[in-house]
Amino acid sequence: MDINKILGEMTLEEKAGMCSGRDFWHTKAVERLGVPSVMMCDGPHGLRKQEGEDDHLGINESIKAVSFPTAPALASSFDRALVHSVGETIGNECQAENVALLLGPGLNIKRSPLCGRNFEYFSEDPYLSAEITTEFVKGLQSKKVGACLKHYVANEQETLRMTSDSVVDERTLREIYLAAFEKPVRESKPYSVMCSYNMVNGEFLAENRYLLTDVLRDEWGFEGFVVTDWGAVQDRVKGLLAGLDLEMPGINDGNQKKIIAAVQDGTLPEAKLDEAVGNILSFVKRYSENRDENAVFDREKDHTKAADVATECAVLLKNEKNLLPLSKSAKVAFIGEFAENPRYQGSGSSHINPAFISNAAEAAKKMENVTYSKGYIAKSEEIDEGLEKEALEAAKNADVVVIFAGLPNSYETEGVDRKHLDMPQNQNHLIEAVSKVSQNVVVVLHNGAPVAMPWINSVSSVLEMYLAGDNVGNATVSLLFGDANPSGKLAETFPLRLTDTPSYMFYPGERGIAEYREGIYIGYRYYDKREVDVLFPFGHGLCYTKFEYSELKLSKTKIMDTEKIAVSVKVKNIGQAEGKEVVQVYVQDVMSSVGRPVRELKQFEKVNLKPGEEKVVTLELDKQSFAYYEPRLPGWHVESGEFSIEVGSSSRDIRLSAKVEVESTQEIPILFTRHSTMGEIMSTQKGRAVMESMNSRRAESSFSAEQLGEGAQEMVKAMMMEMPLKNSVSFGAMNEEQLEGLLQALNS
Ligand code: BGC
Repeated sequence: MDINKILGEMTLEEKAGMCSGRDFWHTKAVERLGVPSVMMCDGPHGLRKQEGEDDHLGINESIKAVSFPTAPALASSFDRALVHSVGETIGNECQAENVALLLGPGLNIKRSPLCGRNFEYFSEDPYLSAEITTEFVKGLQSKKVGACLKHYVANEQETLRMTSDSVVDERTLREIYLAAFEKPVRESKPYSVMCSYNMVNGEFLAENRYLLTDVLRDEWGFEGFVVTDWGAVQDRVKGLLAGLDLEMPGINDGNQKKIIAAVQDGTLPEAKLDEAVGNILSFVKRYSENRDENAVFDREKDHTKAADVATECAVLLKNEKNLLPLSKSAKVAFIGEFAENPRYQGSGSSHINPAFISNAAEAAKKMENVTYSKGYIAKSEEIDEGLEKEALEAAKNADVVVIFAGLPNSYETEGVDRKHLDMPQNQNHLIEAVSKVSQNVVVVLHNGAPVAMPWINSVSSVLEMYLAGDNVGNATVSLLFGDANPSGKLAETFPLRLTDTPSYMFYPGERGIAEYREGIYIGYRYYDKREVDVLFPFGHGLCYTKFEYSELKLSKTKIMDTEKIAVSVKVKNIGQAEGKEVVQVYVQDVMSSVGRPVRELKQFEKVNLKPGEEKVVTLELDKQSFAYYEPRLPGWHVESGEFSIEVGSSSRDIRLSAKVEVESTQEIPILFTRHSTMGEIMSTQKGRAVMESMNSRRAESSFSAEQLGEGAQEMVKAMMMEMPLKNSVSFGAMNEEQLEGLLQALNS
């Protein structure tokens, strides 16, 4: 396909038509010029290809395809290679099904545990989200199937999702919400980005030039096409001018007519239209030229893979008395409907139709001593006394009880935010009741986001499976009985209560305005800064063995911000089982002139160790690891000074730390005015130089230390530093001309 040639031969009508879909899932063809129509499908944790009735809510049937653990579980693996392989498997299914683009992954940030779609998003941490996304996209696109990063951007709630306005300051937007997209766009070159429904700071994404063009294309070098979320288009012509390429779905030709009229009356330069059409054609070309007619997929093989992935993602939250793993000869009572009908995926557009689903009750049948009783009805909140009684009998007769619990479908779904963190009362009641008759209780959780655990002190172990995909049953059983060793770490904080959460006061906003007032302090950035106790911290996850950290070394102790630094640490398996540890590297700016989190994740690596084995893990930090976003530049900036490199097993289990001195190569340009203070002037190199060259003693007090005495010295110093320059004139330290001269020198 020669895109320039095709563009030259397309009529205005054909070009305008190309800017919206043919139907729910396809681009338009231009048959006379050999441009085929290609298909995009939902995912992202598998393929939702609809061949019958279309819908964007996951209601109508789609073809049979593998359903992998959903985003929070995938992120909890902290395993780049694993996520890459998940991308490859889904890419292969897409290729075999002639699907050109998968609508995912979803990388919005978990601003609140209440977001109804958190089960589709990776983490509260932008670094982790970006790393996981990058690998997912690389894996998917290695099969020559496009990824579509969604939902760009600041789309962290379902309440009024199609109209709400996310009001976010620039630093927060860059450091948290855009940061999740920045690296994947730069590094994994996704075919596409999906603009979200909402507004950011008063402008809908579908017509937001700043976000779609200035940031995405001009700064980050995005070369793919921007597609709307389904129905997110606003003013179509304004959208094209802002950098929006494709409107989905394509239902009627109203916007096509508007585009034609805008080109004819000159409001839309035809070159701008050609750009959008060119971007869409490049996608079509990429797919057609790389289409692999021979691609096939094996549903059974992918289902087996789903179990392997789920075992790598599960997070062992608590394991007192080392109750897990269970002995295969122990008498074990499985209780809870989720053991039989597990919840393994979320509701809405990501809904997959798997060929096979495994459940724990079935998977445990090979063990003679495992019984199953229902305990509760998943669809109901009511305590079922009959079922509970049966369950208590089973519990009494068992050595260990495993309760399968979590959130039912209706509790977390696209389009609706949660109202609280509670599990259904019948499940909480059952757990409390069983804990009264058994000392050995394990809770297995199936949920897409944190839940409150009022029973946490009554149970010995908690295994968080998340929504673990279609082979959840086999994965769970192999983890429970020690055939696999849990190695996941939480990609989000589990708070003690909803009122502790950072955005509690502002979520989901009022009258359609969602003010992100907590700023950069979300997730552990908030809990650590405010020293709030949590149920389980970010990065937490246990294993059936223990690891010891030693010999933390930095390749340098002093660097310029343009240099990289290598951090190495020795990790040893000091337990009896083979297992995997996620080595986490956090960075802290020890003293900073702007507010910064106590620590931020900047590197991680998962290592496998046999009992007694040790390995040296070496990870690299670069400028981005030390920087914050400085709107006055504007850009990423490192403040000169000391940073602490913390290495640990979770954000609240830091094992070793070391200091490095980083020197900035960049000064923030400041325009000094009559209202600038001496403190501001003296905080810049330029300011200090000017004051020195003027041999000025204006930054010092004319009183001697003895005259002032102890308390007054501090007071006078503070007042001198905070005094605006104009007051030097009113207090007679200089005249107006001298002030003008000083300002000129400072700003020259
Ligand atoms: C969702 C998207 C999805 C699209 C198509 C929208 O409602 O927000 O994530 O890809 O529908 O189904």
